[in-house]
Amino acid sequence: MSGTNKSDKKRVLSGIQPSGQLTIGNYIGAMRHFVEMQDEYDCYFAVVDLHAVTVPQEPEALRENTEAVAALFVAAGIDPAKAAIFVQSHVPAHAQLGWLMTTLAYMGELERMTQYKDKAAGKVAVGAGLFTYPALMAADILLYNAHLVPVGDDQKQHLELTRDLAIRFNRRFGETFVVPEPSISEVGARIMSLDDATKKMSKSNPNPNSYISLLDPPDVVRKKISRAKTDPGREVVYDPANKPEISNLMTIYAQCAGVSLDEVQKRFEGQGYGAFKKELAEVVVSVLEPLQRTYHDIRQSGAIRDILRDGAQRAAAVAEVTLRQAKEAMGFLLPQG
Ligand code: TYM
Repeated sequence: MSGTNKSDKKRVLSGIQPSGQLTIGNYIGAMRHFVEMQDEYDCYFAVVDLHAVTVPQEPEALRENTEAVAALFVAAGIDPAKAAIFVQSHVPAHAQLGWLMTTLAYMGELERMTQYKDKAAGKVAVGAGLFTYPALMAADILLYNAHLVPVGDDQKQHLELTRDLAIRFNRRFGETFVVPEPSISEVGARIMSLDDATKKMSKSNPNPNSYISLLDPPDVVRKKISRAKTDPGREVVYDPANKPEISNLMTIYAQCAGVSLDEVQKRFEGQGYGAFKKELAEVVVSVLEPLQRTYHDIRQSGAIRDILRDGAQRAAAVAEVTLRQAKEAMGFLLPQG
């Protein structure tokens, strides 16, 4: 068998929720790693709409955001000929294995999830799906027997639960799933808010000045960066404990310009925050402009629906085999044929 045979490659799966505009945090923490991995691995990248509906969604916005995230995958450089790009709900095996994983997860485990605690905090009515969300995420990953899961730092705990569920299933019902490893980069795995460096940058933040959207026009990017909070000092020095705001901006610079944090520090020695922010804005714009051009071309071409149809077929071919194995191992009477 040739080394380039798809089945010889290790698998990668990751997902992004279509719950609003994607930010530069999603790009730096996740999407750019998807692009880097697509040559070496057999990749599956999902727009996880079933996860998005764990909080209320406007139907029209959900449809639009689902297509938009898929187009952003392509615009960011994911090649649909290499990686399967698909919508989670187009592959029914996700919901099915999600249920099986829900039966395997303990209440206590789910109660400990910090993302659930954050999202549920202060709410009177919390959907049950928000609580069982990590079991569905485990199913997403285990269906593909993914070895690696590129994510930002905030998904680490969900990945640990996925590993626990895979190990639990394999012990109880026999070796069925690959136990996946998270792939979290050292720099940029947690991009912080522009207005509050104690919070992660998030598309669900009601203040749009707190994040840079991948679809923000250049002038909006420049304005947001010039307004980004900094400390009263003026040295461009990487020191997350004492200078969290400038350290966060330096991380964004380093990731967008493809240089190390040391280099950023050297480049701006003695220059002050104003000069640094001006250049940072241009570096971010230089990443976003080509991405946005491709994004608008793809949306106009209508090609995304074909890409998603093909991606779902490729994903389902893998997922259905694993689901069948899992059901068989658990003792389900399988339909004939
Ligand atoms: P989501 O949609 O919130 O975010 C998508 C990816 O972007 C990363 N990310 C960040 N990275 C760095 N800095 C930030 N400020 C930042 N904000 C977001 C996230 O860590 C994530 O990798 N539960 C997942 C979606 C999911 C999934 C999966 C991921 C569902 N099934 C299976 C991997 C595998 C989520 O809510 O990501």
